[in-house]
Amino acid sequence: NLYSLIMAGGKGTRFWPESVEKKPKQYLNLISSRSLLEETLMRFDRFVPKEKRFVVTTQEQEKLCKASSKGKINKNGIIFEPTGRNTGPCILMSLATLLYKGIDQNDVVAIVPSDHVILNKKGFHSTVKKAADFAHKNQQIVTIGITPHFPHTGFGYIQKGKLLNEEAFKVSRFKEKPHYELATEYVKSGQYLWNAGMFVAPVRVFLEEFAEHAPEMYKHFDALMKATKNPTQMKKVYQKLPSDSIDYAIMEKSNRIAVMPATFDWNDLGSWDALSSVIDETHGNTVVKSDGEFFLNSTDNVIFAPDKFVALINMEKHIVVVNDKVTLVAPVKDAQEIKKIVEYLKKER
Ligand code: GDD
Ligand code: MG
Repeated sequence: NLYSLIMAGGKGTRFWPESVEKKPKQYLNLISSRSLLEETLMRFDRFVPKEKRFVVTTQEQEKLCKASSKGKINKNGIIFEPTGRNTGPCILMSLATLLYKGIDQNDVVAIVPSDHVILNKKGFHSTVKKAADFAHKNQQIVTIGITPHFPHTGFGYIQKGKLLNEEAFKVSRFKEKPHYELATEYVKSGQYLWNAGMFVAPVRVFLEEFAEHAPEMYKHFDALMKATKNPTQMKKVYQKLPSDSIDYAIMEKSNRIAVMPATFDWNDLGSWDALSSVIDETHGNTVVKSDGEFFLNSTDNVIFAPDKFVALINMEKHIVVVNDKVTLVAPVKDAQEIKKIVEYLKKER
């Protein structure tokens, strides 16, 4: 009995200025005419029925979330957090709500993020299905692992332990967002996989692991259950939960974790530069949106300029983003720095 829970309350600051607090990246249609959240939901078509799909987001994203998930989830399928407190509280509160809605402790939930691009639906179905079966049989949390190809410091790294069945490995270490040197070592060793950010387990197992490794969060579980029907009460309880991600709170500490290597393509749309691996090139550049372009001796740029004609001369490896209010130009290698603009704007204006 498989349910899916999609986490869609993140802020996506590195996609500024398209992604802003009022419209974070999961609601943008960057790679197709559908938002990333819609694409994520449709990935479960013919796999997890709509009635068993849920989305968790923050109250402030209510309108966007409703619009993006309409007709694609359970009719009471949006779970609202009073505010974002990272994925730890978000998951614990969602599990309380699911139990309240009648899900069984033994039912398996696939908890997935909403900021990825995965094109191979069949591969996705087959890996997640195997992960769910394995999780159920062995009472473990199963993560999905991706073969790393460079030392990305924004991911969790999973060290493969012994092979548990033909496909799942025991996790001997989980390290969230290692610094660059460590990430380099991990990639070189060939023993590590990237954490795809998906967690598959029976409700009971998630709860047991919260109880053991995040007692400061878990001690509010009964109060969360009681508050599921009462937003005012929920607000009070929720602000008592320490803000932490599931990766730090549970995954780094638990020893009931297995990893199933993915049999599908996977791209984390972390920042503008990531679009170059999911969109076909136009004359050597990644044109996400524009109204025509002129390139003279210019390659490897990423362009997002809806309704604008873009001309580049002798430009290499740059991000160019233009909208009605903002022009942004930055070297591709500094794509991560874009979040600093958001910090600046928050403080100074
Ligand atoms: N509802 C809700 N509330 N959703 C949230 C919140 C929250 O407070 N915070 C984040 N999310 C959502 C985001 O929208 C995203 O879909 C997902 O949860 C993961 O959060 P991110 O903030 O994007 O995490 P990350 O990318 O830094 O790291 C995670 O994903 C990596 C793979 O992309 C970790 O699990 C890493 O270990 C992993 O490698
Ligand atoms: Mg992410």
